[in-house]
Amino acid sequence: PVRRKTVPQIAARKGGEPIVSLTSYHAHTAAIVDKYADFILVGDSLGMVMHGMESTVGVPLDLMIMHGRAVVRGTSRSLIVVDMPFGTYEESPNVAFRNAAKIMKETGCGAVKLEGGARMAETIRFLTERGIPVMAHIGLTPQSSHVMGGFKTQGRDEDSWPAHEADARAVAEAGAFAVVLEGMVERLAAKISKQIAIPTIGIGASAECDGQILVLEDMLGLNPKPPKFVKVYGRLAEEIETAVEGYARDVRDRSFPTDDQTYS
Ligand code: KIV
Ligand code: NA
Repeated sequence: PVRRKTVPQIAARKGGEPIVSLTSYHAHTAAIVDKYADFILVGDSLGMVMHGMESTVGVPLDLMIMHGRAVVRGTSRSLIVVDMPFGTYEESPNVAFRNAAKIMKETGCGAVKLEGGARMAETIRFLTERGIPVMAHIGLTPQSSHVMGGFKTQGRDEDSWPAHEADARAVAEAGAFAVVLEGMVERLAAKISKQIAIPTIGIGASAECDGQILVLEDMLGLNPKPPKFVKVYGRLAEEIETAVEGYARDVRDRSFPTDDQTYS
């Protein structure tokens, strides 16, 4: 059996060959992504993508565990990282450890991700010292969108840079093995990527990062209104519509099923 990518292997890619990552929530799609990705994120974006929620704030722990398990079962090569959902880690390092351990034990994933910089450093250290690898996530952090007043690109104003740089340093020093930079201007992402010793994984954060991640359904063309930072590589919405339309037509005019699809 092929051994999965490990956390130290991902961490060692700092400044090297770019790290490839996509989200996945589902066994069959994860099996395809698994052939090309270094790590797969079971992101809490599944609340919107899979379950039609308005934001990630309402995503429950059990849902992350269910999709995490599906993705672990569907894959064999990539490191699987599961997002800790809103409300399961912010309160204290103890609460975070209990929920992160539950995620790891019940899904078989290799690491968890949580949002927040300096304010989460103590928790990141607490988890990593106790056997739970942590990927951090700074910049635009969707779980705090109610405080930030929406989803805004970070770092447009240079006055905000020191806080973002301090967040990046804090999570790296606390032991995070990598950090997602989301929704951030290029010059700030470049500066942070040079300053810290762990890989930066960009989403809407320029080519200056050590790796890239996108939401799979966005890059496949399933999202009718993808954000500017998405490059759309597929036309899945059209493919699905053509297939469903053809099926409906065939059923209505009785050209499906034929003898080929029938147990005679
Ligand atoms: O939930 C998610 O999909 C994420 C990525 C956008 C990094 O956190
Ligand atoms: Na997320």
